[in-house]
This record gives sequence, structure tokens and C-alpha cells, in this order.
Amino acid sequence: MHVTMIGAGYVGLVSGACFADFGHHVVCIDKDDGRIAALNRGEIPIFEPGLDDLVESNMRQGRLEFTRDTARVRDADAVFIAVGTPSRRGDGHADLSFVYDAVREIAPLLSAATVVVTKSTVPVGTGDEIERILRERRPDAEIAVVSNPEFLREGAAIQDFKHPDRIVVGTDDARARAVMAEVYRPLYLNAAPILYVSRRTAELIKYAANAFLATKITFINEIADLCETVDADVQEVARGIGLDNRIGGKFLHAGPGFGGSCFPKDASALLKTAQDHGVALRIVETVSAVNEQRKRAMARKVVAALDGSIRGKTIAVLGLTFKPNTDDTRDSPAIPLITALQDLGAIVRSYDPAGMEQAKPKLETVIYCHNAYEAAQGADAAVIVTEWEQFRALDLAELRRVMAQPVIVDLRNVYRAEEMKRAKFRYRAIGRAGVD
Ligand SMILES: NC(=O)c1ccc[n+]([C@@H]2O[C@H](COP(=O)([O-])OP(=O)(O)OC[C@H]3O[C@@H](n4cnc5c(N)ncnc54)[C@H](O)[C@@H]3O)[C@@H](O)[C@H]2O)c1
Repeated sequence: MHVTMIGAGYVGLVSGACFADFGHHVVCIDKDDGRIAALNRGEIPIFEPGLDDLVESNMRQGRLEFTRDTARVRDADAVFIAVGTPSRRGDGHADLSFVYDAVREIAPLLSAATVVVTKSTVPVGTGDEIERILRERRPDAEIAVVSNPEFLREGAAIQDFKHPDRIVVGTDDARARAVMAEVYRPLYLNAAPILYVSRRTAELIKYAANAFLATKITFINEIADLCETVDADVQEVARGIGLDNRIGGKFLHAGPGFGGSCFPKDASALLKTAQDHGVALRIVETVSAVNEQRKRAMARKVVAALDGSIRGKTIAVLGLTFKPNTDDTRDSPAIPLITALQDLGAIVRSYDPAGMEQAKPKLETVIYCHNAYEAAQGADAAVIVTEWEQFRALDLAELRRVMAQPVIVDLRNVYRAEEMKRAKFRYRAIGRAGVD
């Protein structure tokens, strides 16, 4: 099959490379000249484990191309739209301008029987509007519009794409359904369930999934707050409830609040959709509000660990990305936390294995370092914000030697209290007893 991907970002690039690996001929089109030039030089513009090898081998075998030339959509059996849908500044609706611009650009260039597939996360009804634009501009063509939301996670994107829990295909059109079945045939042969639903249902499934996962995280975060007050251990509570199959153990890790390029903006967009239709989604509303204030509130933990004031003190922030194994700092909890620390008068030093370049424009006054120990140099406290593997096995003796005070605030619960006691650190965690 000939597949075209519009947008070569986290989703478009991974999906394009995986489709090529399935044996399809894939052309990825991006309007970012720098990104296309880098990809054609063999450089991967994002940090995603395994993606470099996958892109390189499929380019070498002639199944994967990168271009700025939108006219290449004319050869495609299926055109996937994987452009960004960020929060619209001011009102929190999904900003669909990238999606609609892409549709207007490709409309005159498509062959008459193409299937246009929305992989971007878009509110219910967006597919109808895409269809309207295409009909208006191409009355001659029989273009079907399908919703095929993506559920991959950054950091494990290739594994997720190739072994999905399910594939959701939203269409009522038999021809489009056959094209989608062919595109995903290798996964179907691997027994990945394909769920055929209406386009609007598919669009909503994506938002409902993200809102539910965000709710789980927020639920355990609030239970963690209670654990701290009543002297219980949130990790044991999470295990105790997670072993119940009706609940499940995933997304029950207490932490500094969810972030990333999807959950915050998707929760907000879902709320706006519901409001537009006169429906109250009070649970999602609360989850969003609780999470927003939690990120900045984490600064209070640091203040408490340093006996009530951080003015003039140096804080080492370990981790800037919203989770490990990505360079993505979009809506990362590290950003409001650092801003709050600076507002309270602290000097912030930081290290992240992959996210520092992305963080720099958002956090200009942070002192960026080459490793965790350099960041901890002279620090009064080290705060673990992202659970990168290398922060799970820090040389505690070395850390203690370089710091001004041995204080660790572990917002990801990666260490055990006994370990910290042995290493003579003052230790604060989330929803668990600390060490003085
Ligand atoms: N990042 C994730 O983990 C993830 C997971 C599931 C779904 N999604 C959804 O997938 C969509 C894309 O997310 P992303 O993180 O890959 O975004 P991204 O910002 O990393 O990539 C978007 C790319 O699209 C390009 N682009 C924009 N307009 C274009 C146009 N008209 N023509 C060609 N290229 C264009 C941009 O230059 C950019 O490279 C969003 O709707 C997001 O919500 C993301």
C-alpha cells in the first residue's frame, strides 16, 4: 500500500516508520524544512528509543521517504493526518488550525479515491468538518474520511504501535474500512483487536481514554496526600487496589501530577466539547483543576524539607521531561515546579538526559548542567522530578559529598526510606514516610 503521513512529529514519524516496517511504501510530509532536511541526513529530530534504527533500515530499503512536497499525496491509497492539536490559547479548545490547514493544502492534490485518515487527536465532529472541506473543494472525488486515533506512549512508542491493545477505526464507509484493514493487516495477523465504530465514536474514544487515565493518576495522587497525613504508604495502597483486576495496577503511581503533550490539553478539549453540547463532565473538570494546582504545589514539599524557606538556597532539579525516555517537556510538571521555586527565591540548577534543549526557551534562568552530580553541586536539596533510569541508581555517597545539605525530595518514589537513612539523607517522598 502507499501511505502518506502529514506531519512527522512524535506520532507521524513513529507511525510512518512502523507502517514502512510493515512493508508499505510511506512518504512523510512535514512543513518544517529543518526537520525534513535532518531526517534526510539520517538524523532523528526527536528522542524515541529504537526509532533511529527503524527509520534508517526502512529508508535504506526504499520504503520510507521524507519530503516537504505536499503534491506527493497524489500517489497515496491512504493519507494520514498527524499534525499537532494543541490547546487553543485563551479558551482551552483544541486548536484545529493545523488540521484544517493540512486538509485545505492536500484537497486539490488528492487522487479521486483516497482515504483521508485523522490520526491527530480531534474533538467529536472534526471528521465531519474535514469531509465538508474536501467535498467543497473536490466535488469530483469520492474521498472517505476516517478517524483512527493513536494511543502510543512516548518513550515506548514503537512497541505500542506494533503491539497495540486495540486499533480503533471510525468509519461507516465499506471501501475505507477495507483500506484500513489492509494498512493494519500485519497487526491484525498478530491478533491485535480492531474495533470498527462510527467516526464520532472513534473520536470520542480517544478523549475518554485519556481522561480516564488522567483520572486514575489524580485519584492516586489525592490518596497519596491522605497517606501522608494518616501515616499510610501509597505504594502499598496502590498495589493493594491494583491487584484487583477490576481496577488494574497501571497508572496508579503517585507523583507530581500528570503532564505531557496529551493529558492536560485533551482533558481541557474534552471539557470544552462537553460544554458546547450542554453536558457537565464534573469528574474531568475536577481532575483537571486538581492536577493543575498540584504541579506548583510540589514546591511546598521542597520548602518544608528545607525548614520553611528556600530563599537564596540552591535547588537541584533532576529531570525536566514529563516522563523518562522522551525529550518532550510539553506541560511537564517540572516547569510550574521550577517557576514556583524561583518565585520563592531559590536558585535552580538542573539536568535532564534528553529534555534540556526543549526546556531552555521555557525556563531561561535555570543553570543547565551536564549530569546529576554537577546539578547537585552546592545544592541544599535535590528534587527528583522525572524517573529516568540514571536517577534511580544515583551514587548517594557522591551526591552527599557534592551537596551543601543532604536533602532529597523524591517526587517519583524511586528510592526506599531505609536506603536514604543509611546514606544519611533527609528524605521526602510522595504518600510515604520520609527520613529526618
Ligand atoms: N505525542 C504523543 O504521545 C501522542 C500520542 C497520541 C496522540 N497524539 C496526537 O497526535 C497529534 C500529533 O502529536 P505530536 O506529538 O506528534 O505532534 P508534533 O508537534 O510532534 O508533530 C506535528 C508535526 O506536524 C507538522 N505539521 C503541522 N502542520 C503541517 C502541515 N500542514 N503539513 C505538514 N506538516 C505539518 C509540524 O511541523 C510537526 O512536525 C496530536 O493531535 C496529538 O494529540 C500524540
